[in-house]
Amino acid sequence: MAMNENAVALLKADHRKVEELFQSFEKARTDDRKKALVQEICTELTVHATIEEEIFYPACKGKIEDEELLDEAYVEHDGAKVLIAELLQGSPSHEFYDAKVKVLSELIKHHVKEEEMRSEGLFAEARDAGVDLDDLGERLKTRKAQLLAKFKEAGKLPPPQTRSFTGHKLSQSEPVLGR
Ligand SMILES: [Fe+2]
Ligand SMILES: [Fe+2]
Repeated sequence: MAMNENAVALLKADHRKVEELFQSFEKARTDDRKKALVQEICTELTVHATIEEEIFYPACKGKIEDEELLDEAYVEHDGAKVLIAELLQGSPSHEFYDAKVKVLSELIKHHVKEEEMRSEGLFAEARDAGVDLDDLGERLKTRKAQLLAKFKEAGKLPPPQTRSFTGHKLSQSEPVLGR
């Protein structure tokens, strides 16, 4: 393992790991195996999204050229969090379970592309803007270890905290075509 893994290398390694887990899910044949893989996918994604939102994204704010990339990243994370919460409460025998995993994998694939894209991606923009990737790498690594230990001790993941979605707080009683 590299002594000093920079932020982009660390986040990309996380992306590769989750891609492998999604591939394993595609091949999984038993409910137990599916459930275990989903547990691992959701843990990885929750830790990853948390360290990006706590450390990496704020470090990009005000520095990168295309700020819309950041806003979209938060919204994409929130979309993933809703699916993660659904999956953790669901079970492989439930209707839509496999579909939720598939849609989550597609959402993540799109999101990862937005982060990793050459020249226009978030990581490239951060690099171009002179964000201190070595320092951030250290902080991401420390926080990641902390979160993994915390979730392991709790034996479960925390409820999703969406930063950009408010839908769960909106009243459902407002008439759509009110007059
Ligand atoms: Fe990421
Ligand atoms: Fe992200």
